[in-house]
Amino acid sequence: MNQSIPEIQLNDGLTIPALGFGTYRLNGNRGASAIQSAIDTGYRLIDTAYNYENEATVGEGIRRSNIPRNELRITSKLPGRYHEYDKAVTAIQESLFRAQLDYYDLYLIHWPNPKEDRYVEAWQALIDAQKWGLIRSIGVCNFLPEHLERLERETGIIPSMNQVELHPFFNQEEQRAYHQEKQIQTQSWSPLARVQNILDNETIQSVAERHGKTVSQVILRWHYQLGSVAIPKSSSPKRQKENRSVFDFSLNEEEMERINQLTRPDGRMNDQDPATYQEF
Ligand SMILES: NC(=O)c1ccc[n+]([C@@H]2O[C@H](COP(=O)([O-])OP(=O)(O)OC[C@H]3O[C@@H](n4cnc5c(N)ncnc54)[C@H](OP(=O)(O)O)[C@@H]3O)[C@@H](O)[C@H]2O)c1
Repeated sequence: MNQSIPEIQLNDGLTIPALGFGTYRLNGNRGASAIQSAIDTGYRLIDTAYNYENEATVGEGIRRSNIPRNELRITSKLPGRYHEYDKAVTAIQESLFRAQLDYYDLYLIHWPNPKEDRYVEAWQALIDAQKWGLIRSIGVCNFLPEHLERLERETGIIPSMNQVELHPFFNQEEQRAYHQEKQIQTQSWSPLARVQNILDNETIQSVAERHGKTVSQVILRWHYQLGSVAIPKSSSPKRQKENRSVFDFSLNEEEMERINQLTRPDGRMNDQDPATYQEF
């Protein structure tokens, strides 16, 4: 059953689907086919990044799909090496050239890189690029509350979204509460924990059996009920369809809680703590 994906509104008024599609490692012709297939399957929110080296592939997938541009929401991200204001502006323009797009719906700072301490400067470039019409909505990834507070204090502009590592082994409870207080939309990267040690998790399996659903579907439904926009990646049309078919059942409180209990303080997949981790 291909139920439509519900829409949500960001703090700046832009509406986006409550479930999107990740594209990390979808490159070249096979990548473009996978992205076209995802759009044909009903995904309208597509996540890429300068550093994935596939913004051109995403552009190609979009053109092959024949869906009007204004029905899509395309996200890209600014790499850490371009936080300096002028470099950030050039990188945004370069991102657009690569995808052959006139604008991105969302553009996010990929990592705060706090040791370099130039993320406020990068944020100013995103604010200006939004004014120039290159980006509709501006946000961040992997920002801790202390980084978000600084953006607000020094520029007065709060991001529309923060994309963070979020899956049953790391449910980001405190970070999500902070986002809610500030009206920042949470988005979940690696929402399926890259299927490492999760598809055979007995707790999620038992919930899945009860609903006649797959483990991936239960996890993606859990994200939706947490209020976070998941962006699962799949190269397979079959699994793309499976992952978007999560709007015809719901988890009860006890089931949500059982999945939340799987979270551990050290549950990040690769120990990428934004307080110390740097990505360029
Ligand atoms: N902002 C950031 O710092 C950041 C960091 C990481 C990722 N991201 C974004 O988040 C997106 C999603 O994260 P991710 O790609 O790391 O991991 P993910 O979506 O949690 O997992 C992707 C993996 O799961 C497999 N898979 C997908 N659906 C499945 C299903 N129904 N059953 C079994 N296996 C399934 C995929 O294999 P197949 O392709 O073979 O189906 C792939 O190996 C990325 O693509 C990227 O756009 C952002």
